[in-house]
Formats: sequence, C-alpha cells, structure tokens
Amino acid sequence: MQKKISLGVNIDHVATLRNARGENDPALIELALVAQNAGADLITIHLREDRRHIRDADVFDLRKNLKIPINFEMALSEEILRIALEAKPATACIVPERREEITTEGGLDVAHKKNEIASFVERLHAAGTEVYLFIEPDAGMVKLAAEVKARGIEFHTGAYARAFTNLVERRAELTRLKNAATLAASLGLEVHAGHGLNYFNTGAICGIEAITELNIGHAIIARSLVTGLTAAIQDMLIVMGR
Ligand code: PXP
Repeated sequence: MQKKISLGVNIDHVATLRNARGENDPALIELALVAQNAGADLITIHLREDRRHIRDADVFDLRKNLKIPINFEMALSEEILRIALEAKPATACIVPERREEITTEGGLDVAHKKNEIASFVERLHAAGTEVYLFIEPDAGMVKLAAEVKARGIEFHTGAYARAFTNLVERRAELTRLKNAATLAASLGLEVHAGHGLNYFNTGAICGIEAITELNIGHAIIARSLVTGLTAAIQDMLIVMGR
C-alpha cells in the first residue's frame, strides 16, 4: 500500500488578498475551515516580521477554531518566537527571511546560526511545539539539523520546481532530494518538503520514500480561483495518490 503523505495547505495568500482592502474579506478563518473540511491535514502560515499577510491575531484565531494542527513558519526572531511560545502551534518551521524577498528564496544557513537555532529549538520543544528547519537538500545541512536536535527538516523544493522542464536537471534535483531525505531519515529526522510544488511536479516528490508531509500554498490558492478551494485541495490530494 502507498504511504499517506500529509498535506499542509499554506493560506498566506488568502491573507494577502484580505489585506489588500484593509477589511476582513475574505475571512481567513472561513477559508481555513473550508481547507480543513476539504481534507487538508494541517494549515500552514508564515507570520513574517513585516506582517505582510498573516497577522498576530490570525495565529490565535486559527489555533482556537481549527481542529487540524497549525504549522507555523517563522524567522529566527525573538519577537516572533514570543508569539509562537504563546500560541503553541503543533509545529514550527524555522525559515530564513529577508524583507525584500517576494517569497522564501532559499534554505536556512544552519552552519552560521547554529547556536541561535539550537536555542530556538530548545525553547519551542519545551513549549510542546515540534521544530523543523527549512533547508536545502544538502547533506551538511541535514547533519547540522540533527545536531541542533530539530524534530525534522523541510526541504526547499524551489530548485527542483525550477528544474522541472529540463529532464536532466529534474532528475539531478530529484536525486539530490532523495539522497538528502534518506540521510535525514537515517538520522531520525522527520522529512517534509515544500515550495514551488504544483499539480505537475508534486507526483514525483511523493515517490521519495522518506517524505511524510508536503506544504503547498501558491499553486492551490491560485487554482482555487478557478475551481474553488475545496476542489483545488482535493485535486492536489489526488496528485498525491490520496
Ligand atoms: N514551505 C515553506 C517553508 C515556505 O516558506 C513556503 C512559502 O511560503 C511554502 C512551503 C509554500 O510554497 P508555495 O507557496 O510555493 O507552495
């Protein structure tokens, strides 16, 4: 039997649309509940330091009203950490963040921030939130993630997504992901993946044995404009063999 890979639906773009008019339309919680009913296994949100989409109140509102877990993406920021420690999401994924970027551009540099990351992992784990590090599929980064005692890693699949139309590069990126995933699993790390995944490139990622969760935002929210959010999520679940 094929293993079940969990789907985290990232709803940041719903908040972007809401914020465009400064009112509460669309209501984030309403869409999150639709996602929950459609079969999303978790809701993923990124509380950015500039609050460009998700806001502090959203985190608590979602936490209070959803039955499914929240995956909280966060930068190495003491201010954001305080909110995470108070909201206690099921999981937190530490991501690199630059104010000028449109989206998270690459993986975390665990080597240069090792002590700081270890301290975030320790404090979040003490509060009951399991910590993942958003890293490139790179053996060195995987080993460092294990050293700082993260629960797992989320592989940045941006390079794979960009390589998708070139078969040689696609295969190379898939191999890179597979090798890093196998190493991570052998070190006891849970393996997630995300970024740039869509209805065409996600299937092959699901073939990687160690991967247990995908976090997908842009493709699902974009498709939902055509099909509605329920169908967009259920179509992705079909792509994932569910
Ligand atoms: N995972 C992480 C850690 C991310 O930062 C993002 C982008 O916010 C995603 C997954 C989702 O990426 P996309 O919107 O390209 O599906």
